[in-house]
Amino acid sequence: MKWKILIAEPLDEEGINRLREKRTFEATQKFGMCEEDLISSIPEYDALIIRSETKVTDSVINAASRLKVIGRAGVGLDNVDIEAATRKGIVVMNTPGGNTVSAAEHTISMILALSRNIPQANASLKEGRWDRKKFQGTEVYGKTLGIVGLGRVGSEVARRAQGLEMKVIACDPLISKQRVQELGIGLFNLEQLLPQVDYLSLHTPLTPQTRNLIGEREISLMKEGARIINCARGGIIDEEALYRALKEGKLKGAALDVFEKEKPFSSPLVELDSVVLTPHLGASTEEAQRRVAVDIASQVIDALEGREIRNAVNVPISTSDTEIGIEKTIDRKGNQE
Ligand code: NAD
Ligand code: MLT
Repeated sequence: MKWKILIAEPLDEEGINRLREKRTFEATQKFGMCEEDLISSIPEYDALIIRSETKVTDSVINAASRLKVIGRAGVGLDNVDIEAATRKGIVVMNTPGGNTVSAAEHTISMILALSRNIPQANASLKEGRWDRKKFQGTEVYGKTLGIVGLGRVGSEVARRAQGLEMKVIACDPLISKQRVQELGIGLFNLEQLLPQVDYLSLHTPLTPQTRNLIGEREISLMKEGARIINCARGGIIDEEALYRALKEGKLKGAALDVFEKEKPFSSPLVELDSVVLTPHLGASTEEAQRRVAVDIASQVIDALEGREIRNAVNVPISTSDTEIGIEKTIDRKGNQE
């Protein structure tokens, strides 16, 4: 018998090889599937490997008659109905940490690109103009960076920003005092933080609690001329409120790697010179893609072979009657009971 794995989004070759090296595994790559395609394909598979584009809905999960594992090569799981997977006894796992440095470096690049108008100046020069005055920027030295979400990426952004001699403050209701002290960062609630910052960088997951965390009211609490960076998830900022604040000059600029709706070609934000956009590139480095691919491949192999469940984010209600040796319950650290 072979374990059948569906890889639904591009995965680094090293991860694919890891799966193909195993004679008992059969890995199939099928990209760009809509919900209907997934519903018709999924009954064949024991494991599904995805990134952020595949929407694993309740209907997909209900059709997944032999699925045991959903593996996310990356962190965010807002594209997976975890509750439905839990009810169906399917383990959902991700690869925390593998793309942290890349996401942090992308955030710092966005802060600097915004401050020095690099994308706009590059585009202007390539169109034949030599406009030095128009693209005069600002230093980040001595400016205050507010980080919302001081987890893996937020902490790495904080350390790098400190290296640029920015003053870093943060808001994270779940972080320990010890961790904040280690990082040497002032901790505030959101309302206290917002009026202090020159740059606001978001690093929370997208959850019902963080959807539209930064909306009209929050922006109104910010300094005139502040800038916002979002390399976490679309939907954490209310894009309409952001557009209005940029248009009215309340905010000086925004840098976005993620959007309420990906491929935001019809968003009015695209028209604004003060906005720098990248197409969800935070984790798009050779190193991060290799790490997350190898991690997810090894995790899926270990789970299906009944050895160990790593980085599970749910505790499936029942995995009985499966043949993978994942016993009845699995805790968050992957310990089986
Ligand atoms: P993490 O879980 O390590 O950190 C998230 C932090 O947010 C936690 O410390 C948590 O306590 C905090 N948090 C939760 N709710 C909050 C709230 N209401 N206010 C303030 N803080 C809150 O996650 P991570 O690995 O650091 O990833 C952070 C985000 O970046 C996620 O959304 C992830 O999907 C995204 N990400 C994006 C890219 C990219 O390609 N753009 C790459 C990696 C990660
Ligand atoms: C993540 O949450 O890990 C990132 O958004 C990167 C990705 O989608 O691969």
